[in-house]
Amino acid sequence: MTPVYLDYAATSPVDPAVAAAMADCLTLEGNFANPASRSHRFGWKAEQAVEKARRQVADVIQADPREIIWTSGATESNNLAIKGAVEAALEQASGPVHVITSAIEHKAVLDPCAWLQQRYGVEVTYLSPDADGMISPQQVADALQDNTVLVSLMAVNNELGTVTDSAAIGELLQSHPALWHVDAAQALGKLDINVQQWQADLVSLSAHKGYGPKGVGALFIRREPQPALRAQIHGGGHERGFRSGTLATHQLVGFGAAAELVSQRLQQDQIHMRALRDRLWQGLQEIGEVYLNGHVDHLSPCHLNVSFDRVDGEILLASLAKVAVSSGSACTSASVEPSYVLKAIGRSDALAHAGLRFSVGRFTQADEIELVIEEVSRVVRLLRGDA
Ligand SMILES: Cc1ncc(COP(=O)(O)O)c(C=O)c1O
Repeated sequence: MTPVYLDYAATSPVDPAVAAAMADCLTLEGNFANPASRSHRFGWKAEQAVEKARRQVADVIQADPREIIWTSGATESNNLAIKGAVEAALEQASGPVHVITSAIEHKAVLDPCAWLQQRYGVEVTYLSPDADGMISPQQVADALQDNTVLVSLMAVNNELGTVTDSAAIGELLQSHPALWHVDAAQALGKLDINVQQWQADLVSLSAHKGYGPKGVGALFIRREPQPALRAQIHGGGHERGFRSGTLATHQLVGFGAAAELVSQRLQQDQIHMRALRDRLWQGLQEIGEVYLNGHVDHLSPCHLNVSFDRVDGEILLASLAKVAVSSGSACTSASVEPSYVLKAIGRSDALAHAGLRFSVGRFTQADEIELVIEEVSRVVRLLRGDA
């Protein structure tokens, strides 16, 4: 039996309509050409498709298409935003520069920050979340220094699903020259992303979290005022010099189609996910000694992270053959260390190890949720010796 897929926060399957649009951009009969080929109609057609995708992605975040730079995913977008902004700032600065982020960011933010610390001696403040996984605008205000050049925080935490008040942080940064970068990888298809409301300078996106293909993403770079950024990938000068490399027409067309679907059906998807996720939480609570990791009132509709007391997390995960979920962050699940996010919100080693992230999506069915509740209840009771 195929397990129930409840790991949409790790990646979502490509929507069939998106897959069809991508398939049309591969073969000789299709739109396969290099969008940078200026000398023939094959190239022009590919360029048109890429520019349509740019509009579709811009529309889903309320941006101008000229503010979208294609990348290979949110990891690369975060690297370009963080390293690019700080390297540009260092060229202007007369002394050390300072960056604010949080202890519960994805590694794709933490590692570039650590690299900047090591490489240039950049000072980095890692804000600590409260016990519910929230980072408050006040914490950002308190951490700001005269030499702060960048604030980088995620819109939705990938492990917990907690939602940061990006608009309030954007508002308070209006009176400070620091750039405002939001890692919105987990927000696409789950939350309304509005770069105007967030007053963000830089926003990272990834297609594969929102029913598009893996290996493609974007960085929103505000046009007015345009932040100074140093390119991290040099080559043919594509993407206005911010990111060189031949554009992958099929990937971008897929991202565009996925973004348009999100624009059309976000509310519908949110209602669907929230109903299933809430039912799952209700069912799991009946097991007893189950703890929600995150803030119940500030969660993306897709996420549910819970710890089961008196159960070994690794054994629990291995015993749940009928359910595909993740322990800790999927991207770091090669390590058996307890999740650094669960540790940062104060969970004991045992509860951090026993944390499971369930994440639902567009294609999750109500009867699948009932099956998961039944299966998790059975396995947890068995492992606790309560069965
Ligand atoms: C919050 C967050 N940022 C960045 C990434 C990395 O995105 P990508 O897989 O597109 O490189 C992820 C993926 O898990 C994520 O959840």
